[in-house]
Amino acid sequence: MKNYILLILVCIALVNCKSESKSNDVAKSTIDKKVDSLLNLMTLEEKIGQMNQYNGFWDVTGPVPSEGDAAKKYEHLRKGWVGSMLNVRGVENVRKVQKVAVEESRLGIPLIIGFDVIHGYETQSPIPIAEAASWDLKAIQKSAQMAAKEAAAAGINWTFAPMVDVSRDARWGRVMEGAGEDVFLGSKIAVARVEGFQGKDLSNEETLSACAKHFAAYGFAESGKDYNTADIGISTLYNTVLPPFKAAKNAGVRTFMNSFNELNGIPATGDKFLQRDILKGEWAFDGFVVSDWGSIMEMMDHGYASDKKHAAALAANAGSDMDMESYAYVNELSGLVKEGIVSEEVINDAARRILKVKFELGLFENPYKYCDEKREKEVIGSKEMHDAALDMAKKSIVLLKNENNLLPLEKSGKKIALIGALASDKNSPLGSWRLAAKDNSAISVLEGMQKYPDNELTYAEGAAVVYGATNFVHEVNVNTKDTSKFKEAIQTAKNADVVVMVLGEVGFQSGEARSSANLGLPGVQQELLEAIYNVNKNIVLVLNNGRPLTITWADNHVPAIVEAWQLGSQAGNAIAEILYGDYNPSGKLPMTFPRSVGQVPIYYNPKNTGRPGPKKEVFWSHYQDESNAPLYPFGHGLSYTTFNYSNLKVSAASNEVKVSVTVTNTGKVVGKEVVQLYIRDIIASVTRPVKELKGFELISLKPSESKEITFTLTEKELGFFNNQGKYIVEPGEFKVFVGGSSVTSLETIFQYQ
Ligand code: BGC
Repeated sequence: MKNYILLILVCIALVNCKSESKSNDVAKSTIDKKVDSLLNLMTLEEKIGQMNQYNGFWDVTGPVPSEGDAAKKYEHLRKGWVGSMLNVRGVENVRKVQKVAVEESRLGIPLIIGFDVIHGYETQSPIPIAEAASWDLKAIQKSAQMAAKEAAAAGINWTFAPMVDVSRDARWGRVMEGAGEDVFLGSKIAVARVEGFQGKDLSNEETLSACAKHFAAYGFAESGKDYNTADIGISTLYNTVLPPFKAAKNAGVRTFMNSFNELNGIPATGDKFLQRDILKGEWAFDGFVVSDWGSIMEMMDHGYASDKKHAAALAANAGSDMDMESYAYVNELSGLVKEGIVSEEVINDAARRILKVKFELGLFENPYKYCDEKREKEVIGSKEMHDAALDMAKKSIVLLKNENNLLPLEKSGKKIALIGALASDKNSPLGSWRLAAKDNSAISVLEGMQKYPDNELTYAEGAAVVYGATNFVHEVNVNTKDTSKFKEAIQTAKNADVVVMVLGEVGFQSGEARSSANLGLPGVQQELLEAIYNVNKNIVLVLNNGRPLTITWADNHVPAIVEAWQLGSQAGNAIAEILYGDYNPSGKLPMTFPRSVGQVPIYYNPKNTGRPGPKKEVFWSHYQDESNAPLYPFGHGLSYTTFNYSNLKVSAASNEVKVSVTVTNTGKVVGKEVVQLYIRDIIASVTRPVKELKGFELISLKPSESKEITFTLTEKELGFFNNQGKYIVEPGEFKVFVGGSSVTSLETIFQYQ
């Protein structure tokens, strides 16, 4: 029977292939026809099967499921009740499950294999917030492309990335996985990542289908606590939360993932307004939506669904097409259809969307196209991957402070003390999304610095940052007491010309479920920093972290600070090249650094309020015990050279505004600068932020070289969404600001229309 049906399918495919032209539309309608033919052959249970996703048998990336043992999963694969698996990786493993689906089920429909390819597969690029700090869209796209190529060689065909959640709260551990706080930068990066993962042709075996997540408002968890309630106004939803998703959709992203949080009282997974009205309605998204891990059944804990059956009905009707690890669809949907609570059209629509993406990936032509042992061996961990990871890592580093040009370090004749457990840590640079990376495989800062042999380098750990297991299941234990290694480190520092201290968070201290109420250096590291400072003030602080930290003391005392995030497999090489000046830093912060936790959420573009300041009297919007100013503003980042901005000019026509500025390299070395343009719509029918990024350009200048940069502002940049979700552009007075950070050097005013 199965072979017979397969034969029919092949015939349909062949007939349709003949008529296929290069045009995307034709290809699309060809796929639509194939999907419809296939749907006609499927039973209700098989269609529901497409909507069911199971975790594999090895890794878990969420609460360990209470049901679904291996035998049952295999049985369901054979019945055609599984459309996708996640966390199955490696050609051998993927082939094993694919074989059951394709060769042992009635219709032989291939699985789509998903995995969190967040910033690399085995070879890790910098964590996404670090990549965002490059503001280099081409590099970010390339990084996603490399990640796709490596993961696809391991049998994967779908990544749960990019995360396009805007977040303004450094307490939220998942800021490491996004592009930071800004909607404009975040939207551009969303596009770069989608295009990088998916390439131009999804059926190419080096590309993956991407997934814009988490739809929506997951980054607005109250008090930065993961999974917490999001309760935001309609203006923030339309103007800040949704645009990066829309940008990803317009870039052709094939899947969306909904989110754990509720938004204004409705769990996103069961939110019809988000999924049906906006995403599939207004935006006409024709890919599919996967739930987050167990988020369908979690609607019971939210107090929204009375039981699993109710949850399945709510999710399916709201437009969640695939169930990740709730076991709700597979168990409940068929009954719900029979009872008329979920219509067969809802099931057909979901199955159609899922099958379509499988066709686009080319899985029907060859279900094993991602299963090539030779390619797996050649591509994974190859030089090409590591070269790209190194390049991206260098571009991601942000020089936060460099008093008296302490950096770059001289390359010979100096005594350098390297201090901090993170300096020799070969795991932390891999971050927390590193399931397929080999343990201890990153180049450490110590190893990177050892490549500059003409200085005398002495290493002391100073303080163990953590001990205990640090994987998805176990918690990270921070060392809050043990100062026994301080003595050795102090001695090492005393004798040095320069002390390089690598401090911050271990890889698993940020990421999912890693929210933090404190944003200082964890454990005894602050104590260590001060102890070293007492004997040697010539400190270069290298930060390794997944979120902005309140390093206010360090900023007041330490002359040089380098934000080096978690930079992936090549971290140590990249950091050493920056420290020694073989690469001139050009990163800019994609997220504001607070001075203290009490300022959070802090971001560069709040509203002005009715009582802006500063004022001498008390009644204005401020803190009595802390400044309103951040420690480091959004967009901030230094270079080993300096740039001057001059000659800001604006010419406003009726439908277009041109803004130009001259940027000059006023230092002694070649350098890159991110030229940033912000606007402020001074009076609007819905109040606008004090500043909004609306353009940026990454340029390179030789010493004394000048360039004139011109930005064009159109309705796309000058408008906003009103409280009915309608995009409007209002004529009137605008301010425009240009400079090398959100604290810009030049500004002027123009009239629009
Ligand atoms: C995360 C998702 C992820 C999924 C699968 C969830 O816990 O929120 O972002 O893609 O697990 O690993």
